[in-house]
This record gives sequence, structure tokens and C-alpha cells, in this order.
Amino acid sequence: GMIPVELTVNGREVHLQLDPRTTLLDALREHLHLTGTKKGCDQGQCGACTVIVEGRRINSCLTLAVMHDGDTVTTIEGLGTVDKLHPMQRAFITHDGYQCGYCTPGQICSAVAVLEEIAAGVPSHVTDDLDRVALSDRELRERMSGNICRCAAYPNIIAAMNEVAG
Ligand code: FES
Repeated sequence: GMIPVELTVNGREVHLQLDPRTTLLDALREHLHLTGTKKGCDQGQCGACTVIVEGRRINSCLTLAVMHDGDTVTTIEGLGTVDKLHPMQRAFITHDGYQCGYCTPGQICSAVAVLEEIAAGVPSHVTDDLDRVALSDRELRERMSGNICRCAAYPNIIAAMNEVAG
């Protein structure tokens, strides 16, 4: 049978009736028609499906929608609009942080959440000194390592993140 799931997606409260096997990714794309979030591998390997749930980035293909009943979800559609881009979206344009663009929504959601993680003091695998002021590219690359870009726009993505991080 179907299970009721209530989510707040990009500031809007939505009520869904879902097969309990529905991933959060499929709920977003197929039930809410928010197709900005991409399905690359559907197995947790590429990061194209990254969204922000309760302030933390997750691979939406790896989690069931029913597990997020009551949660707040932000997708690329909720970060900015064409008229008012999120600073990270603007920085990706400025620094050419993409080529084909398929991974870009996930890259941007991840990048936004990474800067919040760093501000919150969440350690990374390469962080041995959380007190230092400057972010190293190495740390940003490590934190972004779950987001694959086949066009290899990595240096430009890091440049965009550094601009937003100030
Ligand atoms: Fe979820 Fe690839 S589609 S990690």
C-alpha cells in the first residue's frame, strides 16, 4: 500500500502518497517534477542527485522518501532563481564550473552545504587544523569527492567555492 509522506521542499509543504520503496530522488523528480536534481548512477557513486536535507547534503538516490517524513529539503530549484541566483550559482558561471552541466545541480548543492559544514566545524578527512583561517583546495576537493564530474571541471568548481567562501 501507499504511505503518506509530508515534506517541506524549497519552502513549500507537500503531501505525497508513495510506495514505501520510492527513493527521495524519484519522489522529487517523478512525483514533484523537480527535475533539476539529476539521476546519474542511482547507486550512490556519482553525486548528481545531491540535495540538502535538514541542512546536510545527501545522495537522494540512496535514501527512501518515507524516511524523510517531516524533513526540510532544498533542491537546486530552491537555491536561487534565474532573476536572483544563489551566490554559488553565480560563482559557478563566473568560473566556468561546468561543461555539460549534468552534475552541476548536485555539485552546487554539495558546494553550498560544504561551506556550511566547514562553518559548523564538521571535520574533513584531511583537516588536521580546524582553526586555520584559509581553506585549502585539498580540503575542498576532499569534501567534494563524492561529486563526480566527467568533464573534469574540478579546478573551476574549487575556484567558485573559494570565491563564495571569501
Ligand atoms: Fe545518486 Fe549517482 S544518482 S549518487
